[in-house]
Amino acid sequence: MWKYQALLISLASSVAFGAVDMSQFPSKTDPTNINIPNIPQTTSNDVATECQYYQSNFTIEKSEWPTIWGLATSNNMNTSAEFTALYNSIDWTKAPQAPIRSLTPQGGLNLVGYDTVNDPDCWWSATQCKKPKSPDTNGDIATCPQPETWGLTFDDGPNCSHNAFYDYLETNKQRASMFYIGSNVLNWPYGALRGLKDGHHLCGHTWSHKMMTTLTNQEVLAELYYTAKAIKFVTGVTPLHWRPALGDLDDRVRWIATQLNMTAILWNLDTDDWAANSTPGITPETVNQRYLDFIKMGSNGTFAESGNIVLSHEINNMTMDFFVNHYPAIKQNYKHVVDVATCQNIANPYLEKVITFPSFDASETQNASTVTGSGVVPGATGSSNSGNTINNYNGPLFIAALFGLLMVAV
Ligand SMILES: *[C@@H]1O[C@H](CO)[C@@H](O)[C@H](O)[C@H]1NC(C)=O
Ligand SMILES: *[C@@H]1O[C@H](CO)[C@@H](O)[C@H](O)[C@H]1NC(C)=O
Ligand SMILES: *[C@@H]1O[C@H](CO)[C@@H](O)[C@H](O)[C@H]1NC(C)=O
Ligand SMILES: *[C@@H]1O[C@H](CO)[C@@H](O)[C@H](O)[C@H]1NC(C)=O
Ligand SMILES: *[C@@H]1O[C@H](CO)[C@@H](O)[C@H](O)[C@H]1NC(C)=O
Ligand SMILES: *[C@@H]1O[C@H](CO)[C@@H](O)[C@H](O)[C@H]1NC(C)=O
Ligand SMILES: *[C@@H]1O[C@H](CO)[C@@H](O)[C@H](O)[C@H]1NC(C)=O
Ligand SMILES: [Zn+2]
Repeated sequence: MWKYQALLISLASSVAFGAVDMSQFPSKTDPTNINIPNIPQTTSNDVATECQYYQSNFTIEKSEWPTIWGLATSNNMNTSAEFTALYNSIDWTKAPQAPIRSLTPQGGLNLVGYDTVNDPDCWWSATQCKKPKSPDTNGDIATCPQPETWGLTFDDGPNCSHNAFYDYLETNKQRASMFYIGSNVLNWPYGALRGLKDGHHLCGHTWSHKMMTTLTNQEVLAELYYTAKAIKFVTGVTPLHWRPALGDLDDRVRWIATQLNMTAILWNLDTDDWAANSTPGITPETVNQRYLDFIKMGSNGTFAESGNIVLSHEINNMTMDFFVNHYPAIKQNYKHVVDVATCQNIANPYLEKVITFPSFDASETQNASTVTGSGVVPGATGSSNSGNTINNYNGPLFIAALFGLLMVAV
């Protein structure tokens, strides 16, 4: 019961700043001290072994969560005391009145009748609009501002079978923004835990991966809320960033996310990796050619003034391998390959301030000091007890930065 009292108190105090405080979500994980047991599902690189009998030490009470892969309002989640309090704390009279969209019989979005010229709802799926027209609504992030910078993002994790991929990123000291599906987080909690431990930028990707503009206000809220709650429950941090499935959002959806203090991260280059072999006209060759084009853009002047954010997926072996195969060329053709929190200088991408991210410049200084051999090489290294430690990482990083400055001054 105390949990709900705390929630209600925090909801009351949140009215002043207009966003709901999610910091009362339960979690037993200390995000600054993550220990992942050495068991086959966390250490093996053989998919059958990783995924067989997947068990974790997280006790998931089915009655406290939406049905896995069901709408986030399922399993009576829309009538729980917690969700009702949240829902009622929001002043819905201020919500943008965009209509709830429909799907075509083929499962695509029905855009018929939408005024794409005036684009009243800033509907990304129709016009790629990113700057909201309604007031008090967070706009989308869709690019890394720095020249020759590749903003690295992967959707649809975690999964039981991705140890080799996370090992590859860790070996290359490469961080990415990871957009996790709430249902996957509860299915494979050690995958999410590994993501945080390795210093990746964790973001929500909804509970059940539906087209968000086709959902009611209540459903949109639940999709965002229970995903953030699942990430907090497992990793100890509450994400402040999210990405809608297929980029489908408009001002109504943005405004609801804003009530949870969340901002959407979209992209300006799409590999279409997930669609290879499943969507007519898109083959592995199509996706490889996309990668080659995007790689070329790093050195032919396309990104001389600003960078990109590239949409890719960790969804299956094929999509992970596209990236792994092209990564060396990406590194050669771009000056920087970074997660989005870093390129946007977002020091606190989570509600919990114990995890901080370096600024883009600091992240560069770290690299400079590594190159000149003066600094410690901190962070997500290959050692298994490096811990999570974007936090531990800032100390040495700061010292390295200071050292660099002193050397310049001398
Ligand atoms: C559960 O935690 C114990 C103690 O930390 C550990 O020895 C064990 O391997 C863990 N089991 C699983 C399935 O994670
Ligand atoms: C909860 O959602 C169900 C469908 O998922 C709906 O029938 C019901 O009316 C909702 N309850 C409330 C209180 O909104
Ligand atoms: C998880 O990975 C397995 C094995 O690669 C794959 O078959 C499955 O589709 C993935 N599940 C999800 C939900 O991504
Ligand atoms: C994809 O599968 C192949 C064959 O099993 C394996 O060698 C490779 O490491 C896998 N790639 C990733 C990123 O897991
Ligand atoms: C909202 O998020 C920003 C960072 O994105 C943070 O500075 C602020 O404290 C958050 N506000 C609330 C109410 O959580
Ligand atoms: C750079 O390469 C891309 C991909 O091939 C191409 O579309 C673009 O036109 C090129 N830009 C310039 C300035 O050459
Ligand atoms: C720092 O180095 C890493 C690994 O080489 C690289 O991925 C990253 O882009 C660099 N950071 C910046 C800001 O250049
Ligand atoms: Zn997705």
